[in-house]
Amino acid sequence: MNITIIGAGYVGLVTGVCLASVNHDVIVLDIHEKKVDLLKQGISPIYEPGLEPLLKQQLQDHKMTFTTDYHEACNQAEIIILAVGTPSKQDGSSDLSFIKSAAEEIGAQLMKNGTIIVTKSTVPVGTNKKIKGWIQNRLSGPYHFSLASNPEFLREGSAIHDTFDGDRIVIGADSQAAAAKLEEMHRPFNVPVLHTSIESAEMIKYASNAFLATKISFINEIANICEKLGGNIEDVAHGMGMDSRIGPHFLQAGIGYGGSCFPKDTNALVQLAGDIDHKFELLESVIKVNAKQQVSLVNKAREHFGSLSGKKAGVLGLSFKPNTDDIREAASIEIVKQLLAEGVAVTVYDPVAIDNARSVLGESVSYGEHLFDSIEDQDMLFIATEWEEFKVLRLKTIAKLMKNPAVFDGRNCFSLEEAKETTVDYYSVGRPAVI
Ligand code: UGA
Repeated sequence: MNITIIGAGYVGLVTGVCLASVNHDVIVLDIHEKKVDLLKQGISPIYEPGLEPLLKQQLQDHKMTFTTDYHEACNQAEIIILAVGTPSKQDGSSDLSFIKSAAEEIGAQLMKNGTIIVTKSTVPVGTNKKIKGWIQNRLSGPYHFSLASNPEFLREGSAIHDTFDGDRIVIGADSQAAAAKLEEMHRPFNVPVLHTSIESAEMIKYASNAFLATKISFINEIANICEKLGGNIEDVAHGMGMDSRIGPHFLQAGIGYGGSCFPKDTNALVQLAGDIDHKFELLESVIKVNAKQQVSLVNKAREHFGSLSGKKAGVLGLSFKPNTDDIREAASIEIVKQLLAEGVAVTVYDPVAIDNARSVLGESVSYGEHLFDSIEDQDMLFIATEWEEFKVLRLKTIAKLMKNPAVFDGRNCFSLEEAKETTVDYYSVGRPAVI
């Protein structure tokens, strides 16, 4: 099939590369020339395991092209997939301006009947109706087109795997023919397909992310209570997860969720509910709990030292989770800002996210070239991301490198048994401190 993707961001690029790899002919449009130039050379502007080799292969096989030209991208497409960003506005609601301008450009360029316009960007329920109007307003002739919502469920860091091995593909189309065509497009992925209305598909995306965020805030609150009353959150989560109605996934206590999705989508759903005068109190609490959780390690450090002023801290891990260079809404950044505000000198290290961090933290911190730079001679060490290279470190080694070793582990990377065998004062999440 001839498929066009609008937006070469994370979702658009991964989707485009994967669709090309199963033999569709894919054009990806982005309005940023520099990005398109890089992509034409097979260079991925984002760090995503497996993406760049797969991209290079599609270019070599002539299954994929990149352009900035809407006419070239849209006039022959059978399917046009909208994958532009929907960032948060000040009030937390979704900013649909990129969607609107893309829809208007598509409308102006449609030159044949039967094109299916698919929304993959995460959009509030009801947006597809608006998209229809924006396209219709710009049509240059009496062309008819179909609309569909086809949300993505890709996790950063494992997006390629999730495309080929996802739990479900959700298709909400306005006609049976469009639904069947989209099912055919996805068939090579061999992932179960659910057909729904457009509105249900739009809601499935928000509700899924909000539910997952709720699971995380819930387990983090149980962890906080375990710390005060006794109990080990890992055993508790294990025991809860053995109940098949609860399930074992997404019960890892830590320093909260970050990234470009959960924070944005939970806020947008609260706003969306507010628009129809529904106060989504549960989700509001999930968001508040997460904000507190992100800086909970600094509170532990303050209690440990009395005052943090004048001390030196290392922070290991800046990305919001391993295997990505994305630092958006990452707990690490909140921790660093809080430490700086309390007069701490901070040295940070991350295997891939340093450049992104530099654009946010500037010269306010020192940047370690090696992970030991963030450990050596520090008064305290924070672990904010569970990168594999941190987990293989031994607390004994950390103890040797630090002045008065105090480790605040936000991702429970080490066992309590190991901590007990060292001189490290070890604080983690939802487990007793080892002092
Ligand atoms: C999330 C969803 O998992 C995807 O299904 C969805 O498609 C995507 O958002 C999106 O809307 O585009 P992602 O943000 O890439 O994917 O990352 P996750 O792996 O879900 O992790 C999100 C955050 O939750 C991370 O900060 C992670 O550390 C935290 N987390 C996750 C926990 O603290 N505990 C857990 O048990 C799981």
